[in-house]
Amino acid sequence: MPTSHIPVIAIDGPTASGKGTVAHRVADKLGYHYLDSGALYRLTALMAIRRGTDLADEHALAKLAEHLPCSFVGGDVILSQENVSDAIRAEEVGNTASKIAVYPTVRHALIGLQLGFRKAPGLVADGRDMGSVIFPHAQVKVFLTASVAARAGRRYKQLIDKGFSASMEDLLMDLQARDDRDTQRAIAPLLPAEGAHVLDTSDMTADEAVDAVLKWHASAIK
Ligand code: C5P
Repeated sequence: MPTSHIPVIAIDGPTASGKGTVAHRVADKLGYHYLDSGALYRLTALMAIRRGTDLADEHALAKLAEHLPCSFVGGDVILSQENVSDAIRAEEVGNTASKIAVYPTVRHALIGLQLGFRKAPGLVADGRDMGSVIFPHAQVKVFLTASVAARAGRRYKQLIDKGFSASMEDLLMDLQARDDRDTQRAIAPLLPAEGAHVLDTSDMTADEAVDAVLKWHASAIK
C-alpha cells in the first residue's frame, strides 16, 4: 500500500486535554500504530537540559533534534538505551519542550521522524500540528480541548499518581503560559486544522471521547 493511502487519525489539542489517553485507546482498538509527537519535543528538551544547551541557541537545539538517539519500545521511550518514559513527563521537561518548539529549525528536524510512523494498517498521531502540518491529508482530524481548570485537574492527578509533587496553582499558571506559547507562535501554532472535528472533553469521560473518534473514523473510511 503506498504510504499516502495508509489511514491517519490526527488528534491535536492543548496540553492535558486528554488527547494522549484518547489517542492511545483509539490506536489500541483499531490495531493502529501510535505517534506521541510531544515525546519527540520532550526528548529534545531532556537532552538539552542534561547537556546544558543554551535554550536561545536554535542551531544547537536543531542539531539535537536531528540526531535524537531515541526509540519507542512497547509503551516505553528510550533515549540512548535509557528508559526515559517517566523523566520526559516532568513539568520542567514539558515547559522546556514548549520553549524549543517555537524554533522552525527544531520543528523541521523532527518532520522525517514523525512521517516514519505512518505504517500499515494505520496511524493515530497525537500532537499540536498533526492535522495542520505533518499529516494535512489525514482521513480524520480531531481537535480535542477542555477548560484550563479541567486540564489542570487532570495533570495534577497524573503527576501525583506518578509520584511527582505538584501544586494546583503552579499548574494553572504553567498551563496558561504553555497555551499562550503554543497558540501564539509564528510557526505551526496550536489551532484546529482545516476540517477538524472539535471536541470539548471538559465534561466527558475518555471512553466517550474515544467513541466519538471511532465514529468519525468509521464514517471517513467507509
Ligand atoms: O503534548 P506534550 O505536552 O507532550 O508536548 C510538549 C510540548 O511540545 C508542547 O507544549 C508543545 O509546545 C510541543 N509540541 C509541539 N508540536 C507537537 C507536539 C508537541 O509543538 N506536535
